[in-house]
Amino acid sequence: MKKMQFLENIWYCAAYTAEVADKPLARMICGMPMVLYRAESDEVAALEDRCPHRQAPLSMGNVIGETIQCDYHGFLFDKTGACTHIPRQDRIPAANRVDAFAAVERWGFIWVWWGDQSKVDGTTIPDLSWTADENRRVQYFHWHVNANFQLMADNLLDVSHVDFLHKHSIASKIDPTAKQAEAPKVTMETKVKGDAVHSLRLVHNTMLAGITAAWHGSEGPVTRVSTGKWLPPNSCILKLQFEDENGDINETINLDHIMTPETENTCHYFMDWTWDFGGPDGYPDHDDVDREQRSLIECDDIPMVEAQQRNLELFDNVQDIPVKQDKFVNRVHKVLQRLYAEQGITERVEVTRMAAE
Ligand code: FES
Ligand SMILES: [Fe+2]
Repeated sequence: MKKMQFLENIWYCAAYTAEVADKPLARMICGMPMVLYRAESDEVAALEDRCPHRQAPLSMGNVIGETIQCDYHGFLFDKTGACTHIPRQDRIPAANRVDAFAAVERWGFIWVWWGDQSKVDGTTIPDLSWTADENRRVQYFHWHVNANFQLMADNLLDVSHVDFLHKHSIASKIDPTAKQAEAPKVTMETKVKGDAVHSLRLVHNTMLAGITAAWHGSEGPVTRVSTGKWLPPNSCILKLQFEDENGDINETINLDHIMTPETENTCHYFMDWTWDFGGPDGYPDHDDVDREQRSLIECDDIPMVEAQQRNLELFDNVQDIPVKQDKFVNRVHKVLQRLYAEQGITERVEVTRMAAE
């Protein structure tokens, strides 16, 4: 198997908790077919998705206690990938094992360590502690996207698309061709701190439309406050708030968008949407959030990003032209260029395609 070039010694999100229940889950991460299973002890294991006997996918098997059983000839494997049982045979050859990947369940997601397994560091999983706040509700999502994971992450780092691509749902109420002087004032700051990139974008004194007006309970005017933090490999940890004219914030939504490469040009898109408004039976409830976010992301963002990917495969050597609003994306690409260079990774054109600002 050709090894693809992705950042190593880092956590990649592999699933959300509810996806790994009583049946093993087959999932390709960074080009590696993996099987995730939940043992009787509730611990989650991640192994290569192949049985070393005759290469059947272990994900077609069943969980027995702490082990997974291959469905072909019944060999059992433990969480370290070692074979623990061969039917009708006592001797187990030492080579009868597969690679295991450290797996940790945190904030409602399952994270796997990609790289040197002797360097696992549980402290570097992103902090998404609001998902555990009992005063909030959380809805989890997973999408499969036919595009490179960077294109999908860039979509989240680029709040400026919201007023256009999402004009029928979460956009502010604006005239699509308004000149700068007539449109609501936008201010944006970005800051790089180590490997993290932070952003703060304010849209001042703007009217809300569609579902954003429904979340807020009126059309405004409000200041839309978008706070962003990006962490490698590609977690976009975003917060959206609506500030009233008197400075009060009554709605806070944390939107954590976490991208994991499946292959070179396909990816997994994980998300939690965590909110603190609306009563237990009030709008928006879990079904509302599920319906609204699926509609936005499945009908607007993913089709656009997959179309970008197809275009990039049709046009050779094109360069992106940055504008002012691309600052956050650009800063993230710069950090990734450094991180890739540090690991000797040279072929990541998606972080070098944008021309200098
Ligand atoms: S292929 Fe798995 S036990 Fe034979
Ligand atoms: Fe979007």
